[in-house]
Amino acid sequence: MKQKVEALKKEIVAYIASSEQELEDFRMKFISRKSVIGDLFLEMKNIPAEEKKEAGKLLNELKNLAQDKFKELIDGFNSQQGDSKIPEGLDLTLPAVKDTIGAEHPLNRVKARIIEIFERIGFNLSEGPEIEDDWHNFSALNFPENHPAREMQDTFFIEKNPDIALRTHTSSVQVRVMENQKPPIRTLSPGRVYRNEAISARAHCVFHQVEGLYIDKNVSFADLKQTMLHFAQEFFGKGTKIRLRPSYFPFTEPSAELDIYWGLKNETDYRITKGTGWLEIGGCGMVDPNVLQSSGIDPEEYTGFAFGMGIERMAMLKYQINDLRLFTENDIRFLKQFVSL
Ligand code: DAH
Repeated sequence: MKQKVEALKKEIVAYIASSEQELEDFRMKFISRKSVIGDLFLEMKNIPAEEKKEAGKLLNELKNLAQDKFKELIDGFNSQQGDSKIPEGLDLTLPAVKDTIGAEHPLNRVKARIIEIFERIGFNLSEGPEIEDDWHNFSALNFPENHPAREMQDTFFIEKNPDIALRTHTSSVQVRVMENQKPPIRTLSPGRVYRNEAISARAHCVFHQVEGLYIDKNVSFADLKQTMLHFAQEFFGKGTKIRLRPSYFPFTEPSAELDIYWGLKNETDYRITKGTGWLEIGGCGMVDPNVLQSSGIDPEEYTGFAFGMGIERMAMLKYQINDLRLFTENDIRFLKQFVSL
């Protein structure tokens, strides 16, 4: 008996399990009810009474050794399995915790819809840097130096270099496109812009615009008007009416403000349209010959139109949002309400 126990001890200590089968073999041989150790316990009844105590002690030690070893083998085996190890205390039968997923930001939805409308009529996409030089943001767009028109837009300048600023509008991308491409050009440039303004429900120092530019032979004001009408009806609905109100921008001549007819159905409509029923959605005009010239395009050969609008403004109208600050607060309760356009 003593010898048997010693032999089994050695075998147990030396046992290595590198597969589930070997682990199970160990369990069958040393742990289960029909194990060799179990058999030895059964043999106890044949042992003379005076040896029983000693033999019982040996067998119990053997049993404990086998159990400890089995635990050790399982642990070793699980850590070999790496990630698939199930952490202690994890109950896989519990129902899963519901996961909340984010939603597309309303500004991105509006931007995507604007892009879709213009892509269908042949506009491609272009972009330019947000940190811009004076030439692309102002000078090439026909803002003379020291001209009060520059003050239409409160600008963030870089202190150490007054030639560099955060772009105040996406019109700077027009210049970059014209410098690098030959007409015909039909491009849309969405992007972030910056103005040195106090943050309120109606103004922000960071917002988004989308710029459009169309340059070719014989592009006329009628093309501009028809394109704006098409856009307004696609975005706001089939029957939408527009009007072009004379205005001034240094980079277009003539220039216009684009209004849509919003109607006067309730008190809010009176407030947001200042009692007129009309609502401004952007600026536009025929590209000034000086701008074409600055960018290397011959104004005798080509003409074109440009337009720019605020994405926040479009989103506020479309989704009836009354505070600009909501777009940047990242409140999930706000952000998850919007549907695709
Ligand atoms: N850049 C103008 C602004 O930020 C918007 C604008 C007006 C863009 C007329 C244009 C345009 O392209 O033709 O206020």
